Amino acid sequence: MSASPTPTRSLEGARILIVGASGGLGRPLAAALTARGAHLALAGRDPNRFGDLGVDASRAFAFDLADPGAAQPLIAAAAEALGGLEGVICCAGAVAFGPLDEIPIDVLQEIVAVDLVGPLVLAGAAISVLARGGFVLNISGIVAEIPTAGLVSYSAAKAGVSAGFRALAREVRPRGISVIDARPPHTETGLAGRPLHGEPPKMRPGLDPGVVAKRLVRAIEFDERDVPASAFTP
Ligand SMILES: NC(=O)c1ccc[n+]([C@@H]2O[C@H](COP(=O)([O-])OP(=O)(O)OC[C@H]3O[C@@H](n4cnc5c(N)ncnc54)[C@H](OP(=O)(O)O)[C@@H]3O)[C@@H](O)[C@H]2O)c1
Repeated sequence: MSASPTPTRSLEGARILIVGASGGLGRPLAAALTARGAHLALAGRDPNRFGDLGVDASRAFAFDLADPGAAQPLIAAAAEALGGLEGVICCAGAVAFGPLDEIPIDVLQEIVAVDLVGPLVLAGAAISVLARGGFVLNISGIVAEIPTAGLVSYSAAKAGVSAGFRALAREVRPRGISVIDARPPHTETGLAGRPLHGEPPKMRPGLDPGVVAKRLVRAIEFDERDVPASAFTP
């Protein structure tokens, strides 16, 4: 029997900021990282939503991903609260459904702000403080690989952020910082039931969020730089 491989990055004591920790993926991810011994700071629009995640209020931050001026102060505050920072994870996002010519312009702009510009600005702020061995992870999604009818704005923003993260991975590799683009398939988090616009189509049952969270933790531990949709299914 072959021995199980040893992770290249230990999460024991790792200081990690999670943006979107109140979400359907963010919660199991926070729990899985805590179980590995990571020390977390959490951010979202309403920090009161983190009460049950076992993180002290001094490490819970109000943050709007659509506000590009908020990323740098958040990174600084999280690093100060944790005494340093080894990783930043963005699992915040928003979706809108319907034909492009029926999507209000302000919704299109919000999707681009939250799913494309926000994660890139956050990553830029993160890499300016991360040391060699640090990591940034963003969850783009399968639509970055398979642009989908009825999800034009979401597909465009996610494909853009996925390309940006893969380019950034190359840019900061010489500095020893890992940048991870994860593209999970449809997952049962309830995201589709909270669209900024429109109604979701009928979808086949999605993946279990706990299974997706565990796969993301594995990607961090084993320093995988790219986690395509195919990595989430057997
Ligand atoms: N579920 C899927 O099928 C699936 C598949 C592939 C990729 N993804 C991606 O995975 C990520 C997590 O999604 P999820 O499924 O966990 O959805 P979710 O349960 O709806 O969680 C979304 C999270 O995003 C946060 N958020 C939304 N707008 C924000 C803003 N302007 N500023 C800060 N935080 C904001 C929400 O926090 P508050 O509302 O508390 O602020 C919440 O924590 C998203 O990027 C999504 O696109 C999801």
